[in-house]
Amino acid sequence: MKHLTITLSFLFLATMGLTGAALAAEEKPFSSNVDMSTGSISVPKDYYLWPTLGTWSHTKAEGGVANIHEYHVVYTQPETIEYYKKNRQFPDGAVLVKELLNAETMTMTTGPAVGHGTTLKGFFVLVRDTQGRFKGSPLWGDGWGWSFFNPDDLVKTVSKDYKIDCVPCHKPALDLAPRNAKKDDKWIYTLGYPVLQKK
Ligand code: HEC
Repeated sequence: MKHLTITLSFLFLATMGLTGAALAAEEKPFSSNVDMSTGSISVPKDYYLWPTLGTWSHTKAEGGVANIHEYHVVYTQPETIEYYKKNRQFPDGAVLVKELLNAETMTMTTGPAVGHGTTLKGFFVLVRDTQGRFKGSPLWGDGWGWSFFNPDDLVKTVSKDYKIDCVPCHKPALDLAPRNAKKDDKWIYTLGYPVLQKK
């Protein structure tokens, strides 16, 4: 009987130990802008101190002139750029923040139609997840966490389901991506980020 009690206690402790280890691994934050209990994503507070990965400009024909009316500025952590350059893939926890800015075009000493950013319109945020976390969440899947934010609330996402809100528009990226890119990385429009090709 004594033997059985000891065996049972051992089993109990071993199971507790395993559960504890599993929980710890699961709860360990992999990105500071992800709530590990719910999987909700926010705009990282200090994203604007990160390096710019690339910029997209959108023009609109007005009176025969192509005016820039919107800029998309993409930021990421410095270590993500370092990792990508070395390994040709985005690391777990990589965060890509796309800032949407209204823009104005004017004649300046540098040229006849020079655009500059004015006010914030919103944020698109992607978080690389190589582990398939948050399986039940409609904001996570295909190797990334996906969220959109209005400019006045950097905490609460207004997007509901990445398969509807994001994926259809990111499908062309799959064909534009380098052939040897990692499957999940093909969702990213890396053609606009020459900094990743720097030697
Ligand atoms: C209307 C089409 C469209 C929708 C909807 C869309 N995207 Fe994008 N996304 C793009 C395109 C095209 C680019 C690159 C060019 C640009 O920004 O104009 C891009 C770029 C990005 C980038 C910069 C990294 C990259 O892939 O190059 C992030 C981050 C991003 N999108 C996140 C999202 C998230 C999250 C959603 C859903 C909430 C979403 N996008 C929905 C078309 C879209």
